[in-house]
Amino acid sequence: MKDKKIVLTGEDASCQATVKTTSVVLTGDRPSGNLHIGHYVGSLATRLKLQADGGYEIYILIADLQALTDNAHQPAKVKNAVLELMLDYLAVGLDPKHVHFVLQSAVPALAELPMYYMNLVSQARLERNPTVKNEIKTKGFNKDVPVGFVNYPISQAADITAFNATVVPVGADQAPMLEQTREIVHTFNSLYGATLVMPTAMLPNKSCCRLVGVDGNGKMSKSLGNCIYLKDDAVTVEQKVRQMYTDPNHLKITDPGKVEGNVVFTYLDAFYPDQKHLAELKDHYRRGGLGDVALKKLLAETLNNLLAPMRERRAYYEQHLDTVLNYLRAGTQRAIEVTNETLARVRKAIGIFQL
Ligand code: TRP
Repeated sequence: MKDKKIVLTGEDASCQATVKTTSVVLTGDRPSGNLHIGHYVGSLATRLKLQADGGYEIYILIADLQALTDNAHQPAKVKNAVLELMLDYLAVGLDPKHVHFVLQSAVPALAELPMYYMNLVSQARLERNPTVKNEIKTKGFNKDVPVGFVNYPISQAADITAFNATVVPVGADQAPMLEQTREIVHTFNSLYGATLVMPTAMLPNKSCCRLVGVDGNGKMSKSLGNCIYLKDDAVTVEQKVRQMYTDPNHLKITDPGKVEGNVVFTYLDAFYPDQKHLAELKDHYRRGGLGDVALKKLLAETLNNLLAPMRERRAYYEQHLDTVLNYLRAGTQRAIEVTNETLARVRKAIGIFQL
């Protein structure tokens, strides 16, 4: 790694921060349940690609502090999800040789930085965040929303800036967090001098990146109970696929069928490797003569081909939990060092009284 001038974009061009960095990738998940194939198309596939490309310093954050912002009454759920998340990461193929796995609550700077950033964001601005607004509604918080929850975009800005992240691969619902982070970086650097690195969101470019649930009702999500999990066994996947919604008017095999809004095709679009063959299947289905049973069999096979090596890796690591923990410890130790450097820079830039 060498010293590199980081040019802060656009109107900030005069404002530059010098930090030691290659391209730093930071992303993360709240530990609150197992990862599903919606996560796979939404962000895990991108992470695997970045890992394979090489040349990046990659951090993956298990955001347990953030998970507590809406789970304060069930901390055990968050705690138990930490190792599950590690197992999902390793199962999917993220490799500790290329990736640092970090436990958020074990990194003090991530709790301290928000104390400085909070003063740079208005309450009204926080309340405008569309993702947070939506979550407040779906989680039924109404007026009882915890301050910590409304504040989590600021905490996330701390996560991102603490690592000097330049690239943040996230699902589309996280775009507002990146916008908020960029505003904080801009405000901080304008006020206290060039200190923080300006991050860029890396959003999935496939239209199917927000995978619908197996019931076809909205996004795949644990709370809606419409997920196929990475750890589901082959029979479970077959069952879930069999129950999928297709075209209610496609009663006989010979009937012409609808492809648009047909969940089986949505999934094939996302996962079937041979897109040319898929286009032929769509034509055939539209004409009539291609049955749902055959189509579902193809989809179940496609998904099980993807998931089989993940199940194998998971089974291995479930038998080697000490190794799993050591990966998390090592990544977290590294994170503590990097983020403490950023914290020191931040305190110096603001001009905190030094003892
Ligand atoms: N908000 C993200 C989610 O709900 C998790 C997260 C926390 C995150 N800190 C982050 C994502 C930093 C990217 C970068 O999944």
